[in-house]
Amino acid sequence: LGKSIIFKEKIDSTQDVAHRLARKGAEHGTIIIADRQLSGRGRMERQWISDDSGGIWLSMILRPPIPPHQASQMTLFVAVTLVEALERATGLSIQIKWPNDLFINGKKITGILTEMQAELEAIQYLIIGFGINVNQNIDHFPEEIRDLVTSLQIVSGKEWNRTNLVQTILQEFEEAYQNYIDNGFELVKKKWIAHAYKLHEKIWIKTTQASFYATVQGISNEGALIVRNENGEEKLIYSAEINW
Ligand code: BTN
Repeated sequence: LGKSIIFKEKIDSTQDVAHRLARKGAEHGTIIIADRQLSGRGRMERQWISDDSGGIWLSMILRPPIPPHQASQMTLFVAVTLVEALERATGLSIQIKWPNDLFINGKKITGILTEMQAELEAIQYLIIGFGINVNQNIDHFPEEIRDLVTSLQIVSGKEWNRTNLVQTILQEFEEAYQNYIDNGFELVKKKWIAHAYKLHEKIWIKTTQASFYATVQGISNEGALIVRNENGEEKLIYSAEINW
C-alpha cells in the first residue's frame, strides 16, 4: 500500500482522479492526496468542504480479492483502521458512528466514501476516500455545521503534522489489510464494537417500515447495524434515519 503516492496541490476531487487512474489499470494501493479539492464529494451526493486549511483529503485504489457483496466490510475495515491509526498518533479517543463517520467528543472528525466498480461478480476496484479534519479552527467551518464538526486542532489545541499522520495511517493499513484478507471480518467486528459510538445507549431509529427506540449492539457481516429494541429483540438495520 502506498508504493505509489500521487500528491496534488489542487484538484477537483481525489476520488475522481483515483477512478481515472484505476480505469487505466493503476495498481492496488495507489494513493492520491490533495491539499485542496475544488469539488470534494461526500456521501449521498453531499458536498465535502476541502479547501487548503489543513485537512487530509485522500483516496486509495484497492483491488481486494473479495466478492462485491462484501465491499461494505471494507468501509467498516477502513473506519476501524483509521480510528486505530489516529488514536495511536494523537492519543485521543475516537468513536465510529455507524455506518462510517469518526467522532471525537460527539462531533465529526472524519468521513469515509467508498465507491465500487464491479463486473461479473468480481470487484474490479474500490476507491476508498476519506477526509480528516486536522488543522482547521472552528471559524473555518460554515456556521450551520459548527456544532456538528471538529478537527484534531480544535480538540487538542495543537497543530498536527499531516505527513506524519498519513505515514502512521498507511503503516496501520498495511498490517491491518493483510490481516483482514487472511483472517476475515471477525477481528474488524470486535474492534468496531470496541469503538462504537453510543454502544448500548438508547437511540431512535426510523426505517421505511417502522420507528422505534433501540440500543446499539454491534454490526453484522454485511455491515448492518445490530440493535436491540425495547422488547429485547435484535434487529438488523441496513438503512435508516437515526437520532443519536
Ligand atoms: C462523508 O462523510 O460524506 C464522506 C466524505 C469523504 C470525503 C473524502 S476527501 C477525499 C475524497 N475525495 C472526495 O471528493 N471525497 C473523499
